[in-house]
Amino acid sequence: MIKIYYSSTKKEAGVKAANSIAELLKSKPDAVLGLATGSSPTAMYDELAAMNKRGEISFKSVKSINLDEYIGLSADHDQSYAYFMKENLFGRVDIDMANTNLPNGLATDYAAECKRYNELYDSLGGTDIQVLGIGHNGHIAFNEPSESFSKGTNAVTLKESTISANARFFASADEVPKMAFSMGIDQITKSNKIILLADGEAKAEILERALFGDITPLVPASALQLVKNVEVYGDEKSLSIIKEKHPEALIY
Ligand code: GLP
Repeated sequence: MIKIYYSSTKKEAGVKAANSIAELLKSKPDAVLGLATGSSPTAMYDELAAMNKRGEISFKSVKSINLDEYIGLSADHDQSYAYFMKENLFGRVDIDMANTNLPNGLATDYAAECKRYNELYDSLGGTDIQVLGIGHNGHIAFNEPSESFSKGTNAVTLKESTISANARFFASADEVPKMAFSMGIDQITKSNKIILLADGEAKAEILERALFGDITPLVPASALQLVKNVEVYGDEKSLSIIKEKHPEALIY
């Protein structure tokens, strides 16, 4: 079941998503959070950090596992996802860094790193909540459009469109890594709850296709239609096409 929550702004959407996570942490302080990077979840992380500072929630017993990491970037590279997580969440809350997990971007034996990450995912017992953004081509984590839904963590080659979309964070498109480790669609969709965040006009079309179009690995996010519990938090712009075509689907 997909619930689509409408907000006027990215900030408002982020606050609503943070409330959903806070609710889980209050009932299950040792929850396993599947976390995402990119610009989509930043307002949610800001609110979680503020809630933690206000003493409303604690991350002391939380365990986390991130979706993906660029291959070739060290954890202290300012565009690595490990660095992003420190800046946007881990460095701002009371989480124990030993309980946080990301793929190792410097691993050179890709198969061994994927195996390690799959075992880690299994040892955590999966995720209570999985946070997601969505790429313009419908990718989730770094699962690019392809012939089949991916299984398990894999080393993926990024599409040109993803490289150019992410080039805004780097000095030039040439500096964007060409490969990444990414959790598989099966691991993502197994979560007890998915929280998908989106903002901006550029996401409007793909969001409608992913949530209401055919379920196909050509739109990896369409796999979310098969998940029991999905919460989508979007701003006015990202939800504009859904509002036009499926107004009854929006929760205000
Ligand atoms: C990146 C990440 C995804 C993210 C997506 C959208 O490639 N690997 O996890 O959801 O692109 O990014 P953004 O939120 O910046 O639009």
